[in-house]
Amino acid sequence: MTIEIIQSDITTLRVDAVVNAANETLLGGGGVDGAIHRAAGPRLLAACRALPEVRPHVRCPAGEARITPGFDLPARYVIHTVGPVWRGGDAREPELLAACHRNALRLAREHAIDSIAFPAISCGVYGYPRDAAAAVAVAVLAEEQDKTRTPHRIVLCAFDAGMAEAWRAAAKRLHVPIGDPPI
Ligand code: APR
Repeated sequence: MTIEIIQSDITTLRVDAVVNAANETLLGGGGVDGAIHRAAGPRLLAACRALPEVRPHVRCPAGEARITPGFDLPARYVIHTVGPVWRGGDAREPELLAACHRNALRLAREHAIDSIAFPAISCGVYGYPRDAAAAVAVAVLAEEQDKTRTPHRIVLCAFDAGMAEAWRAAAKRLHVPIGDPPI
């Protein structure tokens, strides 16, 4: 049971599910959200729009997760989660970021998903400092994997080398074993 760290475009990964760093409307955006919607095709937006609003213009509150098919992606599913906007660290950002990872894994287990790839949630537009976010993500994923043993394959997919290095440094500090991606 290990966590893999790779640098790639998450939309190309052949995993059961990719996690999307979405916003509360679930109606798409820029960054990885835009890339996933572009690669999945227009059916993804239609599936997101069909998800119920929990309050006006909010289909997925920060920290929660929702699941849709992956449509034209190699991945069968997209698990949409909404990270916290960084506001200095005293607005429950770490708890919300941890909840994103926990809720994504909970949905994965409920759908017999055995391989899942996460982007660096909140580390782009939402401004979460990379190293602080990496520490939260690695700690939660390692704790959850130890507890539940599935998904068997958890991938942290960085878009840039700096984020991959931040995750590796966090894993080293936390003594979390990092696996080598299968050839
Ligand atoms: N594959 C993997 N990672 C990617 C990709 C990609 N194709 N494109 C971007 N990323 C990385 C970014 O480099 C960053 O490290 O995903 C991380 C998250 O950045 P954002 O996509 O900006 O997400 P976030 O910071 O959570 O902000 C979410 O941005 O796109 C909007 O609709 C989205 O409003 C929401 C907000």
